[in-house]
Amino acid sequence: MKVIPISQLLPGMFVQSVTKQTGRIKIKSQGWVKTQAGIDKLKNVGILEIEIDPDKTLIESVPEKEPANTPSPVTKRDPWQKTHSAEQEMGKAKKLYDEAKSLQIKAFKDIKAGRDIDIAPFRDLASGFMDSVFRNQDALACLTQMRQKDAYLLEHSINVSILISIFAKHLNIDKDIIEQLTTGALLHDIGKIKIPDAVLNKPGRFTDEEFTIMKNHARFSKEILQAAGLKGIAVDIAGMHHERLDGKGYPFGKKGDDISQYVRMASIVDVYDALTAERVYKAGMEPIKAFKILKEGCPDSFDSELLTKFIQCIGIHPVGTLVKLSSQKVGLVTQSNPASPLKPVVKTFYSAKHGRYTQVQDIDLAHKKSQDTLESAVKTNEYNIDLQRFYKNSILP
Ligand SMILES: [Fe+2]
Repeated sequence: MKVIPISQLLPGMFVQSVTKQTGRIKIKSQGWVKTQAGIDKLKNVGILEIEIDPDKTLIESVPEKEPANTPSPVTKRDPWQKTHSAEQEMGKAKKLYDEAKSLQIKAFKDIKAGRDIDIAPFRDLASGFMDSVFRNQDALACLTQMRQKDAYLLEHSINVSILISIFAKHLNIDKDIIEQLTTGALLHDIGKIKIPDAVLNKPGRFTDEEFTIMKNHARFSKEILQAAGLKGIAVDIAGMHHERLDGKGYPFGKKGDDISQYVRMASIVDVYDALTAERVYKAGMEPIKAFKILKEGCPDSFDSELLTKFIQCIGIHPVGTLVKLSSQKVGLVTQSNPASPLKPVVKTFYSAKHGRYTQVQDIDLAHKKSQDTLESAVKTNEYNIDLQRFYKNSILP
């Protein structure tokens, strides 16, 4: 436990108790602070100091940059470096994303027809994704949020590959490994094509029997990738992304050290994307809730240290998600701000106060003249916003 002044409290921290206050407010339940608005409320009722549980913190503040006179090792990259603007990158990112969809469809057809898949175009695509992420990760990150409810099987694998590429860049992993991770992620669920449609497309919970059938998809993915000539990291991700550290995963029941860092990364990203995905039968979960569920799965299922780094990398308000500002303007986070995660660039297009669409405006919350602050995350269905229309008119070139 750690006692901190209220000024240091951030969204994503877990409050255990109030230790100093001017009033006599009792906080009934312990829990995670979700928004800046929640912190402001605590300040307003006179809370001065609180006790937090650092082990449960979902997001840590980004470390200050090293002072200029301390030379950093040459091999170390700045994980947040952007060489292009998100707008400049969006055209290329969209082309890659569409190409990924066509490739997935072709691979599904090949498997159904009993043919091996052609790996070369997947490798090229993985390399394209990685290059785009290195130019500006915000463009592809934004596309991972532009989901179509009925395209989960296609989009999930693409999103996992984009997110693992962003995550691996954040961890300063070598580019040749990132390419293997991204290729493996693109094909990690390809084995699902061998699962009967009635099970694969069933909305809601599986029966025990259906779950047993479904569990085979990871084994099939591994076999398909091996038959196509892939080895190493990509095959491991395909076969083992549902393995868990305590050995209770599937299909092989591997545990602990038998599960590599790369597979651990894939299992975190896979669950995160599945939870936040919009499906025909369920709304997508807010990222902070998905982080909480993943955190509850540590250390039995997931690697705590890697999860903390993943949350730091993606942020509580990831690029592509909807937020409401203190001015009641609603918009899409379009550019991350790693130095100050609660001050991203937001493209606003709706007024929650007036319940109508407004002129599109780019608001940089970090700008010194900006009066607005980020108030909360917003669910896509909260204001009946037609996001697809907005994407087409305002984000995509
Ligand atoms: Fe899977």
